[in-house]
Amino acid sequence: MSEINDRPNANGPNTQLVRAGYDPFDYHGFINPPTVHASTVLFPDAQTMARHGQKYTYATRGTPTTDALCNAINELEGAAGTILVPSGLAAVTIAFLAYLSPGDHALVVDSVYGNVRHFCDTMLARFGIEAEYYDPAIGADIETLFRGNTRLVHTEAPGSNTFEIQDIPAIAEVAHRHDAVVTMDNTWATPLYFKPLDFGVDVSIQASTKYPAGHADVLMGTISANAKHWRQLKHANGALGLCGTPDDAYQVLRGLRTMGIRLERHQANALAVARWLEQRCDVVRVLFPALESFPGHEIWKRDFKGAGGVLSFVLATDGREDFSLRAQKFLDGLSLFGLGYSWGGYQSLALVVDLGDRRVLRPPQEGPLVRLQIGLEDVGDLIADLDRAFAASAAA
Ligand SMILES: Cc1ncc(COP(=O)(O)O)c(C=O)c1O
Repeated sequence: MSEINDRPNANGPNTQLVRAGYDPFDYHGFINPPTVHASTVLFPDAQTMARHGQKYTYATRGTPTTDALCNAINELEGAAGTILVPSGLAAVTIAFLAYLSPGDHALVVDSVYGNVRHFCDTMLARFGIEAEYYDPAIGADIETLFRGNTRLVHTEAPGSNTFEIQDIPAIAEVAHRHDAVVTMDNTWATPLYFKPLDFGVDVSIQASTKYPAGHADVLMGTISANAKHWRQLKHANGALGLCGTPDDAYQVLRGLRTMGIRLERHQANALAVARWLEQRCDVVRVLFPALESFPGHEIWKRDFKGAGGVLSFVLATDGREDFSLRAQKFLDGLSLFGLGYSWGGYQSLALVVDLGDRRVLRPPQEGPLVRLQIGLEDVGDLIADLDRAFAASAAA
């Protein structure tokens, strides 16, 4: 847990990523921070202990390693403070617990990451908090859904699996007029390509599991709040006893150093794949905000500086067979793309999306939706792999 240091930052994003969060001369010039394993922190005398009169008091409240990462995230997000939690899912659920109370109403985008919906429909419901799902394209019309007890609006742009872009400034303006907190899952764009707090969001959430960690071997989430909402988040964190481990914090900070160039490659590869998919007659539609043909493209261009490397497409079926069989043939025809959950790592991945839990949005009717995480491989190899999978899915 850490609050922002006030260093001005005029540097470019990659310079910022290289320098953020840690000054090597705070620790003998070693270029990376120490990985401090701790629970207990000793006090030099009873009076200091009684006053809690030193920077570190107990490791649930932060260590030099976790602070280095929190400081870096504060700089990237422009946040007043950041907490680390054990997963991206926890980053969303803990933000909800920090700001919602029994009897409250929350507006949650219908294209939300699926496990968050499960949390809302089970635990939040048990605590007497009602989540209502709204159309990601709603914009300022979200006003019609507000009630006297609406306390939180959760956004995610682009939305999970279907990539709808939201008009975040319009939604935030309405929410603030109704005194509701605005949270955003910004994992796809990272604060390099979209800075939620600059667009009216109060609490920015990232699954650092994805691009910040970057190697598919760490689970972590960050929650970063603006000045108005930081104190409540910090108290919730203290009350719940949450903390990120020093080893994971070290790995995520290490990942951040190269995140800019990795994202450039993810983005370039994804755009090339998306354009290639768009030309194919066995693809009904490509869902990727950086494509001019995508419905949310204009808002994406207005607000975002770039695109993450995850996209989906609707596979044509010619009305011949059931969707899942066709999709499975496609996945089994891949060899460079791994079949697995998550994204943001170096390897390309594919899966078939199940949109059965959507309340407002209708899943595509023309065929199965396949999601691709486009990795760092040579894009010609990825396209050749996809080409073979299309051939395999069409055969037999
Ligand atoms: C948009 C989004 N947010 C949050 C998460 C959850 O992250 P984690 O896997 O670290 O729990 C995911 C995971 O896929 C995600 O896609």
